[in-house]
Amino acid sequence: MNFQVKNILGAMVLIGLNTNALADELPDRQQALPSVQKQAEHLYLQSAALADIPAGEFGDKVRLGYQLFVNTQQLRDKHVGNELNCVNCHLNAGNKANASPLWGAYFAYPAYRKKNDKVNSFEERLQGCFTYSMNGKAPESGSKELVALSAYSYWLGMSGLMLQHNVAGPVPELSDSELVKGAKRDDFILPEAISSKMDQNALAQLPGRGYPAVPKAEQAYSPERGAKVYQAHCQSCHGDDGQGQMIAGIAALPPLWGPQSYNWGAGMHRVGTAADFIYENMPLGKSVQLTPQQAWDVSSYINSQERPQDPRFKGQVTDTQKQYHQHDGYYGKTISGQVLGSDSSANFPKK
Ligand code: HEC
Ligand code: HEC
Repeated sequence: MNFQVKNILGAMVLIGLNTNALADELPDRQQALPSVQKQAEHLYLQSAALADIPAGEFGDKVRLGYQLFVNTQQLRDKHVGNELNCVNCHLNAGNKANASPLWGAYFAYPAYRKKNDKVNSFEERLQGCFTYSMNGKAPESGSKELVALSAYSYWLGMSGLMLQHNVAGPVPELSDSELVKGAKRDDFILPEAISSKMDQNALAQLPGRGYPAVPKAEQAYSPERGAKVYQAHCQSCHGDDGQGQMIAGIAALPPLWGPQSYNWGAGMHRVGTAADFIYENMPLGKSVQLTPQQAWDVSSYINSQERPQDPRFKGQVTDTQKQYHQHDGYYGKTISGQVLGSDSSANFPKK
């Protein structure tokens, strides 16, 4: 691609981002990730230890990102509208392979989406999880929260790659405006020892990225069977009412449905996405314990319960359903005489 063409594309990208920010439409940023095959354990990136985050201004941003990621409740009511923390779904502080690790994500953005031909920068992807998974109002582009979360993700990924390729020295520092973009761009500088072995596409699909696809089950998923799986394997931690458990005022065991859970626009509300997550990662500490059938069934059970409204809702459940819910979910479907998605009592921000 010659320089001029690149510049034009660059300008289009900028225009795309601007119109995005101005429109009052909430973009659909919860697109399902491409599923990456499971790999042998030793192929997963190992980030440097948190204790190795350097002193100084850059290190402080990385540390703040870590703090926000594991204790997102410090942004409660400002940017977070439920009881969740990022770490609840991106396990081990965003470090665990096959639990959508941050190091797997950072090198995959900016990402182009075919659906609306727009670019998602890394910070926009972060905003997506604030809006939907955290049922909140996302921090603004360039805010210190998004810079910090980007810095933490970058640091995990870059330190891991440097270890893997025997590159000595500190993780190169990036400016705030570079950090929030993500690393899948031609002007992102990688140490030669890494770039000579891995191209952009390999970096965007690191082994362990996302949640690996659960094998197909023999029977169609069933919330009724899922309720039994729930009682046997989940209830002890997540509660008989799915509301998790508060310990000393902290949701130590997170809720799975209801007003304190992820909303109807979150990726986790799709039966397939939650089945992938659950099969690989739950019951916590015991993965992989369930059969694929049990994972599908229990996913359909928790996702056929009421939860906060899809923030793209404009007044008619059927409209939101038609526009955004052409996939395996329960939004707009009738369960026990109740249309799911019609309980708007838990909306955020409060109108
Ligand atoms: C031993 C306790 C335990 C058991 C049993 C358990 N979980 Fe979890 N689960 C957790 C914890 C703790 C987290 C948050 C992980 C973290 O923050 O590191 C979690 C997170 C989750 C999440 C993502 C966060 C959220 O609240 O939406 C889902 C979904 C989930 N569990 C579903 C299940 C299902 C389904 C089962 C049964 C198959 C199950 N869990 C069994 C402890 C448990
Ligand atoms: C309820 C579970 C849940 C919570 C809580 C959550 N996420 Fe996510 N996140 C997901 C799912 C599921 C995906 C995968 C996208 C999909 O399939 O829809 C994802 C995707 C991502 C990605 C992109 C991953 C990739 O490889 O492209 C990033 C980055 C991310 N989340 C960051 C965050 C941050 C930061 C927070 C806290 C502010 C957060 N998430 C909270 C479930 C969650």
